[in-house]
Amino acid sequence: MASEEPDRGTRRRWFRLPGLQSESKDIAREETEADLSSEPLPVDAPPTGEGGLSDYVPAPQPTPVTPGESPSLPAAGPDPTTVDPVEVDEPQVVETPLASAPEPAPATATESIFGESSFELPRVISIANQKGGVGKTTTAVNLGAALAELGYRVLVVDLDPQGNATTGLGISHRNVEGSIYDVIMNDTPMDDCVEPTSVKNLFVCPATIDLAGAEIELVPAFSRELKLKRALQGARDDYDFTLVDCPPSLGLLTVNGLAASDDVLVPIQCEYYALEGLGQLLRNVALVKSNLNPDLDVRGIVLTMYDARTRLAIQVEREVREHFGDKVYRTVVPRTVRISEAPSFGEPIIVFDATSRGAVAYRELAKEVSRGATRRAG
Ligand SMILES: Nc1ncnc2c1ncn2[C@@H]1O[C@H](COP(=O)(O)OP(=O)(O)OP(=O)(O)O)[C@@H](O)[C@H]1O
Ligand SMILES: [Mg+2]
Repeated sequence: MASEEPDRGTRRRWFRLPGLQSESKDIAREETEADLSSEPLPVDAPPTGEGGLSDYVPAPQPTPVTPGESPSLPAAGPDPTTVDPVEVDEPQVVETPLASAPEPAPATATESIFGESSFELPRVISIANQKGGVGKTTTAVNLGAALAELGYRVLVVDLDPQGNATTGLGISHRNVEGSIYDVIMNDTPMDDCVEPTSVKNLFVCPATIDLAGAEIELVPAFSRELKLKRALQGARDDYDFTLVDCPPSLGLLTVNGLAASDDVLVPIQCEYYALEGLGQLLRNVALVKSNLNPDLDVRGIVLTMYDARTRLAIQVEREVREHFGDKVYRTVVPRTVRISEAPSFGEPIIVFDATSRGAVAYRELAKEVSRGATRRAG
């Protein structure tokens, strides 16, 4: 058990991060005097096993490296985790209620979803995590822009009724003529709805609030889970990468995203609730893989909003890497003010502040994700 930290105006108490392992990996949490009580903290006991992350999510299989294919880690480049965190904009430790333990994902159902299929373009990648605010949209927009900067032709499909990827790429909802709603519900060709962005090679299929109705309107629809897959059949060859920004739910829209994709990219926020719902997400990926899309794999996990000043972020990173191994991208996206400001200017970070730490991180992530694959679209 770790020892008590010095008192710095707040009292610090140690407790277990739900779903993570062993007392030696307890996480520090600062609480005000008023919040402390002698009652034990309401952390649900892990349901089975030793109480480790493996109780909730299965370990991925080791990744075989195909001859001639570069491994998923970049050979060089700055490691954002080592950069001095000068742009952190939030207090070091926040009050965060404890998560209840996530449901365990049966290992038999999910162990194959980390399998490594061959890496050929074009690729459709869903950016999914039903947990809200973990950086899905920020990653879709900025990874998309960084891939486009590498010369790939990239389409961002905004599959979230919030339409944040649309506005983050500088498209006003008011000016949208055709949207992903029309593609999914009215069989409008994807091409008719795609808009160019301020970044060369980067395109977006926008979303408007209409899409909120699609979750319900899809329910009685024929082949309701495969609407996006069918819509992309004609369009995917026009792009090297299609990134699907999924909504924060596991509803029909996300299922459509997963069913249409070759890969899933899961952003995990380096915060206290990081792993909540991850087992459920992986179980859904396994269900989609076995029922709708046998080619689907979890391509990678990206750690977002990393604040190197906090013990919590370091702990979450260590735990996720220990469990998922090389499925976790080496690039860690730092928490920076500039990344959070960029969407209000309708610009990806590589345009808004090309030399910022966030821009560097997303460029590195783009290299890892693309693995130097030969461009083919355009
Ligand atoms: N690396 C970062 N540094 C600072 N702020 C960030 C970073 N990544 C994301 N944010 C901010 O965090 C908030 C949530 O990010 P984002 O919208 O990308 O998450 P999301 O998973 O798409 O959310 P939702 O589940 O609502 O769709 C946004 O305000 C965004 O600007
Ligand atoms: Mg989003």
